[in-house]
Amino acid sequence: MEFFDSHSHYNDEKYDTDRNELIKAIYNEGITKTVCVGYNVEKSQEALKIAKENHFMFATCGISPNDIEEYVDNSLEKIEEIAKDGKIVAIGEIGLDYYWNKDNKEEQKELFIKQIEIANRVNKPIVIHTRDAAVDTIEILKEHPVNKKGIFHCCPLNQELIKEGLKLGFYISFSGNITFKNAKSEPCVSLVPLDKLLIETDCPYLSPEPYRGKRNDSRNVKLVAAKVAEIKGLSLEEVAKITYENANKIFEI
Ligand code: NI
Repeated sequence: MEFFDSHSHYNDEKYDTDRNELIKAIYNEGITKTVCVGYNVEKSQEALKIAKENHFMFATCGISPNDIEEYVDNSLEKIEEIAKDGKIVAIGEIGLDYYWNKDNKEEQKELFIKQIEIANRVNKPIVIHTRDAAVDTIEILKEHPVNKKGIFHCCPLNQELIKEGLKLGFYISFSGNITFKNAKSEPCVSLVPLDKLLIETDCPYLSPEPYRGKRNDSRNVKLVAAKVAEIKGLSLEEVAKITYENANKIFEI
């Protein structure tokens, strides 16, 4: 059985001590594709470097709303330059985060829109980070259509957001958050048709149960897949295969 972890951060410093060994281990344990996601200029460059060193890894580049202080002078020019590389499969993670930052909403929106424009110029999809900002996120996507669509990463368990995202043609990616006790994941996962479903770890963060709080890695995507299988009434093999094919499709791998 092979799994595609659609969102990981092997560019995170939490892997500095054992990155190469861990990357080998995840591949050997059946995670045969993953996308290393950038969130500022430096981390996007690192994501691309790691992807180039590992044949089964791909990368994204972008400036997240939580890295907005990085948005200076030529940051976006650098992102656009990185974005042209063949190993870059999407622009992201980009979006809005009103949970961590409520005081700079207009700046966040402007940065999001400018990076949607980059995605359209390089003809790649986007990876969306949205937290406590569902209405504004959907409004921006309606006003600034993304040619290649994209993914709601670590999708918040918000049924309205999922419905609107699906209407716009986006994929919905679930992470360890669906395994948490009290998560109310069933109605949200049920809403997503099989051809729009993705799974991810968002590692090193968001370890699924029973590893919550520990450093996460792509092997735990199997626990996310198992939860999806339980809710959808499918086998683990079926979820692995469907989500693998979906990820290949949206990232054009
Ligand atoms: Ni992430």
